[in-house]
Amino acid sequence: SHNIRLAVIPGDGIGKEVVAEGLKVLDAVGLKAETTTYDLGAARYHATGETLPEETLAELRGYDAILLGAVGDPSVPPGVLERELLLKLRFELDHYVNLRPVRLYPGVETPLAGDHSIDMVVIREGTEGPYTGAGGVMRRGTAQEIATQESFNTAFGVERVVRYAFEKAITRPRRKLTLVHKTNVLTYAGDLWARVVERVSTEYPEVATDYCHVDAASMFFVTQPERFDVIVTDNLFGDILTDIGAAIAGGIGLAASGNVNPSSVGSASWAPSMFEPVHGSAPDIAGQGKADPTATVLSIAMMLDHLGLTAEAARVEKAVADDLAGRQVAGITRSTREIGDDLAARVTG
Ligand code: NAD
Ligand code: IPM
Ligand code: MN
Repeated sequence: SHNIRLAVIPGDGIGKEVVAEGLKVLDAVGLKAETTTYDLGAARYHATGETLPEETLAELRGYDAILLGAVGDPSVPPGVLERELLLKLRFELDHYVNLRPVRLYPGVETPLAGDHSIDMVVIREGTEGPYTGAGGVMRRGTAQEIATQESFNTAFGVERVVRYAFEKAITRPRRKLTLVHKTNVLTYAGDLWARVVERVSTEYPEVATDYCHVDAASMFFVTQPERFDVIVTDNLFGDILTDIGAAIAGGIGLAASGNVNPSSVGSASWAPSMFEPVHGSAPDIAGQGKADPTATVLSIAMMLDHLGLTAEAARVEKAVADDLAGRQVAGITRSTREIGDDLAARVTG
């Protein structure tokens, strides 16, 4: 069987709890997975001042993939761990595709009125937009303070993620790609995105291309989510939309993601992709065994799929689908560990 080398960053809060269950399920798949855990996060930061040491980053480049729980803690100023650990990994490992499926599994309750079939993939750009950290502050703390936060959009960066989105759309039955942006206000960035989509679309006549402003898209997520198949969007719009996506598809505890560097293995630009639940460290429920580890388990299925272990990925996904299908009937609340145990048992069969 295959041997995979996996770096694990449980991180903070419920990150540690959900990753423990994810690894339990991965173990049940029976792969020869060799995992190495890295204690990055709030505790390490308090102990040593380090967020992501250069040697650790260099080491992480050597794995097949990275599994991350969540980072961020109330004891650390906002942005320190998010920027210097999580975003640094996404940027340094060139995770330009942030892949976020939004799918309502059979048996899962949606807060939306009426019956809905929700099955889309949000492809969120992962290395540019307002996330680069460009900007600054003048006269901080005075009444004349000016804070800027610039959005970077390069022809290269937009085109590569748009091409990935067309390639994704063409593999799906509906073959529909929607660009979500705000071209009516963000005229420079929006114009670049729209022109790139327009130009690349001529190479994909089988794909129906559509456009939606992000405000309207937010509305359609909660009124007519079936409008969407594949969405390609800017880093920040994708962040916000996928929390809405999580909410309509059964909750944030089910939403999985992959920070993907699609370069082929062996190429100079290859780097490990990183898989993580969409949710954060949830300080409000951390340490209580209340977190749903399902998002992490589904992220592991995405990881296995990315690594070409499609049969194993399918087994994990089926375990989740079966578990979700039984939830309403069962009507009992399980702890993080109980859900992990149940999923592992289903994978073992
Ligand atoms: P959050 O996702 O941590 O929590 C939002 C709400 O969802 C909370 O009420 C929480 O209890 C609930 N929730 C989250 N995951 C859940 C799960 N698996 N099961 C059940 N309920 C769940 O978002 P937040 O509160 O805005 O952020 C908390 C911290 O996490 C911040 O420091 C933030 O920067 C960080 N964060 C990190 C990541 C990441 O590491 N990828 C993502 C988002 C937020
Ligand atoms: C996410 C998170 C991160 C993001 C934060 C913690 C940097 O919200 O993964 O969705 O904004 O990308
Ligand atoms: Mn987010």
